[in-house]
Amino acid sequence: MKKSILSLCLIGGIFSVLPAVAGPEEDRLAMVKYYSDRFPDVPMQEFANGLYAFDQSAREQWIEMEDFPPYEIAIDDGQVLFETPFANGKSYADCFDNGGIGVKQDYPYFDADAGEVVTLELAINQCREANGEKALAYMIGELAEIAAYMAYTSRGNEFAIQVPLDSPGAVAAYSAGKQFFYTRRGQLNFACSSCHIQSAGLNLRADRLSTTLGQATHWPVYRSKWGEIGTIQKRFAECNSQVWAKPLEAQSVEYRNLEYFLSYISNGLELNGPASRR
Ligand code: HEC
Repeated sequence: MKKSILSLCLIGGIFSVLPAVAGPEEDRLAMVKYYSDRFPDVPMQEFANGLYAFDQSAREQWIEMEDFPPYEIAIDDGQVLFETPFANGKSYADCFDNGGIGVKQDYPYFDADAGEVVTLELAINQCREANGEKALAYMIGELAEIAAYMAYTSRGNEFAIQVPLDSPGAVAAYSAGKQFFYTRRGQLNFACSSCHIQSAGLNLRADRLSTTLGQATHWPVYRSKWGEIGTIQKRFAECNSQVWAKPLEAQSVEYRNLEYFLSYISNGLELNGPASRR
């Protein structure tokens, strides 16, 4: 453990991938090039499968797990919840484009009127509250199940996150997310990039580290470790805790900006959620 952390620190200091001043599209292209150079045998869409793109033995276990996908019940339960009308007779379908079917590729987006990033999970709760229902908890449970169903109806659609360059608010939110990603934190003093860019493909304890490219395509995820389905921001909190940094609240401004950045980087990849992970 000590040794692997130390070697990660050494690797982490050598170089960084993204130029300090670049637009979202330059960032994305730089990321695609970096990982393509680093993993020349991995087809682009495979990055959406996380570490299973390059860890052959973990991949075999994962493919076996996918024979009876552990997230299937969450999709079914999520569909029932999604289709059950609110007390006022309206439903989720009334809040979303296309009745909420096949829309996940557009989330998160920047709401210029509210001046904030709206994730799919936030939009689900906004829909509830607009219809007189209580907000649901963000990391697990019913909200994650509804998100699982919505992700399922979006499978195969290409991520199409918009950061309009003529919207200073959107650009600022994206940049804040990017900065969060590259900022070292916690007692171990690691940034997200230390592990998932500089050290992608290397071992950290039992895991090979996945690439930032493709990390946002497949949520929510059923993790064996969690024993249930959870949202991407639950994973952010866990990755913050791993370096002994205090995790932030799910759907905090910081985590929404981070998700905006991370999702933009996966633009063009096909959505493949929900997914299973160890
Ligand atoms: C100390 C190293 C470390 C740091 C720092 C770290 N992570 Fe992770 N992260 C991991 C490990 C280990 C896993 C599980 C293996 C994998 O999928 O990469 C993981 C998994 C993930 C996953 C799930 C990948 C998938 O395929 O489902 C996401 C998303 C993620 N991290 C995002 C982040 C973000 C965002 C940050 C910064 C807030 C961060 N990580 C910081 C080690 C780290």
